[in-house]
Amino acid sequence: MNNVLIKGGLLVDHQSVSPQDLLIQEGRIAHKGYDIDLPLGTALFNASGLVIMPGFIDIHTHFSLQVGKYTSSDNFASGTLSALAGGTTTIIDYITPGREEDPREAIKRWFHNSRTAHTDYGFHLSIPSFNADTFNVMTEAAGLGISGFKVFQAYPDRLMLSDEEIGLIMQHARKLGGVVFVHSESGELISSLQKEALAEGHNHAAWHEKTRPAYGEGESAARILELVEKTRCPTVIVHIGTKDVIEVLKQAKKKKLPLFGETCPQYLWLHKKFLERKQNEGNLYVCSPPLRELEHLKAMWDSLVNGDLHLVSTDHCPFTREEKTKDIKNFAEIPNGLPGVETRPILLHNGAIAGGRFGWKKLTRLLSTAPAILSGLYPQKGSLQIGADADLAIFNPDMVTSLSAKDLHSNCDYSPYEGMLLKGGIEFVFSRGRLVRHGDQFETNPGQGNYLARKEIKAGDLNLIRMEDYPWVFS
Ligand code: URP
Ligand code: ZN
Ligand code: ZN
Repeated sequence: MNNVLIKGGLLVDHQSVSPQDLLIQEGRIAHKGYDIDLPLGTALFNASGLVIMPGFIDIHTHFSLQVGKYTSSDNFASGTLSALAGGTTTIIDYITPGREEDPREAIKRWFHNSRTAHTDYGFHLSIPSFNADTFNVMTEAAGLGISGFKVFQAYPDRLMLSDEEIGLIMQHARKLGGVVFVHSESGELISSLQKEALAEGHNHAAWHEKTRPAYGEGESAARILELVEKTRCPTVIVHIGTKDVIEVLKQAKKKKLPLFGETCPQYLWLHKKFLERKQNEGNLYVCSPPLRELEHLKAMWDSLVNGDLHLVSTDHCPFTREEKTKDIKNFAEIPNGLPGVETRPILLHNGAIAGGRFGWKKLTRLLSTAPAILSGLYPQKGSLQIGADADLAIFNPDMVTSLSAKDLHSNCDYSPYEGMLLKGGIEFVFSRGRLVRHGDQFETNPGQGNYLARKEIKAGDLNLIRMEDYPWVFS
């Protein structure tokens, strides 16, 4: 199916919601309009009653990430198949070199591993150590189309950098037209609280949260705000789950600084009580930053509504039930991270539209447009503009989705959302004009995803991320 006319659906992007037809030719969006005639040699796709959105983009995944003795359980093949099943047609994975490793070796490894991808994909580069070669590596990475750089204010033994080093990286990233992504937690504070707790004999997963206090995230994010003010580098604080960080984002907004906020479904749907589950069950919910009290969760939803947060990615970094629970003696040994690449869109739809918080345009902005802009892929990805790749997530509002690990396509054998019943479902997915998901049928092969070299980010596009819209509820 190279040329397809999609007829009778509701087209949704970040700017408009309209009952138009959409013509795909040679993998791209060729035309949109009311009542388009079927051209010769074109397949007809009846989309009556369906909602057609730009394919979703998840710019925060960790496939085959090695953390100590564990490796995250999804590789590029299983992780991107899982993504595709949920309507995500592009992912950006974090290349994470070892501290002693030449980052060029890690870049090679990630290019090698990603050959089995089902979705289109790109990379960010984590920078775990700063030295005389760092700017060269960043410049070379940008030359390869890798223009997002992640820095850590946590994990002193493996990844943490000083404020001065982060500031220098921001300066260079800005020159390269890139973006800096920040894991913002107070590394030193966490280390000392962990030592104290372990010395007092506290082992349970609940102590993962207690030793990573929310005020620490506020403190580290405030330092990032200062650096953004100095360097004016487009910067995203990733995986935000505390209102302490939202306060910092509010200040950035007032000062018109290019500081953006990403949250993840786990901070919108899960909370601290899950960590408190008996035996090792709480371990299944360990991720960093940790799950928080309900008041923080509520603040995340409010911030999506009022525009203080700008995108929802997954931080997909699953480990199996056995890895999370067996042979673990204390909370500090639990591999950090949760699955989520497949369930993000349906969960967000339920909180947004079924939940009556905001409408289709904002949902599209969070799931497709903002991530495309922040990864230098807009408007080829994340839009329904003429000439854009025909990546489409087609949503059926009449379906019911029941979430269960056994029905998901990830290699992770549990879902933190097990048993949830959700309104609607992703029924069809197009990737560059090919129908790759049709109900329960998949027509996709490992390796069909294209590598996406990312372009410089335009300041005008960054403004789109901040645009407010009006709630509009599909009925
Ligand atoms: O717990 C988490 N988030 N693991 C993945 C790595 C990271 O820090 O993003
Ligand atoms: Zn992180
Ligand atoms: Zn992450």
